[in-house]
Amino acid sequence: MDSKCSRREFVQLGMAAGIAAGVQGISVASAEEKSLRIGVIGVGNRGTHLLNLCLKEPGIEVVGICDVRRDPMRQAIELVDQAGQKRPAGYYYDPFDYRRMLEQDDLDAVVIATPMQWHATMAIDALKAKKHVLSEVPATITLEECWDLVHAAEETDRIYMLSENCCYYRSNMAVLNMVAQGIFGDFTYAECGYVHDCRYLDFTPDGKLTWRGELARDYIGNLYPTHSLGPVATWLGINRGDRFESLVSFTTRQAGRTANAVKKFGKDNPAAQTPFITGDSTTTLIRTAKGAMIDLRYDAASSRPLLNTTYYGLQGTTASYDDRDNIQRIWIEGRSEGEKWDSLETHLAQFEHPLWQRLREQAEGSGHSGGDFFVVHEFFDTLRTGRPSPIDAYDAATWSAIIGLSGKSLREGGQPQEFPDFTHGAWETRKPTLLTG
Ligand SMILES: NC(=O)c1ccc[n+]([C@@H]2O[C@H](COP(=O)([O-])OP(=O)(O)OC[C@H]3O[C@@H](n4cnc5c(N)ncnc54)[C@H](O)[C@@H]3O)[C@@H](O)[C@H]2O)c1
Repeated sequence: MDSKCSRREFVQLGMAAGIAAGVQGISVASAEEKSLRIGVIGVGNRGTHLLNLCLKEPGIEVVGICDVRRDPMRQAIELVDQAGQKRPAGYYYDPFDYRRMLEQDDLDAVVIATPMQWHATMAIDALKAKKHVLSEVPATITLEECWDLVHAAEETDRIYMLSENCCYYRSNMAVLNMVAQGIFGDFTYAECGYVHDCRYLDFTPDGKLTWRGELARDYIGNLYPTHSLGPVATWLGINRGDRFESLVSFTTRQAGRTANAVKKFGKDNPAAQTPFITGDSTTTLIRTAKGAMIDLRYDAASSRPLLNTTYYGLQGTTASYDDRDNIQRIWIEGRSEGEKWDSLETHLAQFEHPLWQRLREQAEGSGHSGGDFFVVHEFFDTLRTGRPSPIDAYDAATWSAIIGLSGKSLREGGQPQEFPDFTHGAWETRKPTLLTG
């Protein structure tokens, strides 16, 4: 919170902004410092990590754990027990057993960390059952799910937040702060990408397709857009002063996943015959209503050592930011020396985001450059203060819609696709929320 603004004023501001956006906050008077009871759905790699972060947050009680696999569910219950809490109820009977958990009267919120094919269904069910939702990324797969999620969020007084941790990177938050202070002037262009060889996650050790493998077998397009696009969308004020208007997408043929399957299991193994359809590398160009352009890349199947899972760049009339080779560089007209790029670090004394100024010690070491701490912490803070969700259902639907729209553009030979306006026209007047934490 900005120290110039009292907590009460801040909460009132937040409530006003939330109502203007058509997404209400919860009652503030009863919410201050209240303990919150949560359930976690999906305790594989990500869910277990998020559970551990939740257990470190003061006032959070874990009352339910759900996973279709019994062993991870039991291990998660042990973690809660070891943290000194009452053993939570466990759910594992079938893929819809989370619905029994949603019937728990003592449950305030759920954290969803299942395969992405499940996120929308689970989030919508939870909102309808009057539970707050922190959902892993992406929020949805299809355009229909995007609308269903938006409608479910509008029809409830509960909070939905997308757990987009990359928005909270120290560097991305500093750039956001600079944008808010006018350092970039008028911006015209951004580029970002998720380039991370994830083929090792396509199969189980005995050659069965995982949910990630199934995704690449069943869908084309940019299948993982939010880590890269989310921070850029916050910089450009998407859904808050500007909006995505249209996109076009092009892709390479599929080759990397098959090459990997042949290498791993042999060419005669059924795994090597998997009919993957996702191209190895997909580029999407997005144009905004105010005439900015974003070059968005997705590549989870090309053989290369990891530089950084995501990269970002922003071009304004008075500054340029570029971290494509994992070195965060900025040039600011009138501040940087001549044509020399500066390390972003050299400007942090002045432009560190207030959230990072306040919570750096807690964030560092939490995973994903501190972003993991912030998504969890911000979610609970949002529930307690009643301020609007920092990354709400409108943002989640807009960023995740890339999956459906890029796929449609590819199927139509690169034809432009119009973006739905999930905010129903409110994008022009909605206020930024990420900066107010
Ligand atoms: N934000 C990030 O940085 C980040 C990083 C990794 C993964 N993720 C996202 O987190 C999610 C989980 O990824 P992961 O790597 O932990 O996958 P995972 O396969 O390790 O875990 C998924 C878990 O969900 C369980 N599950 C599947 N269907 C279920 C159902 N119907 N009900 C209950 N449990 C069910 C599985 O048994 C498994 O334990 C994915 O959507 C992924 O995109 C985000």
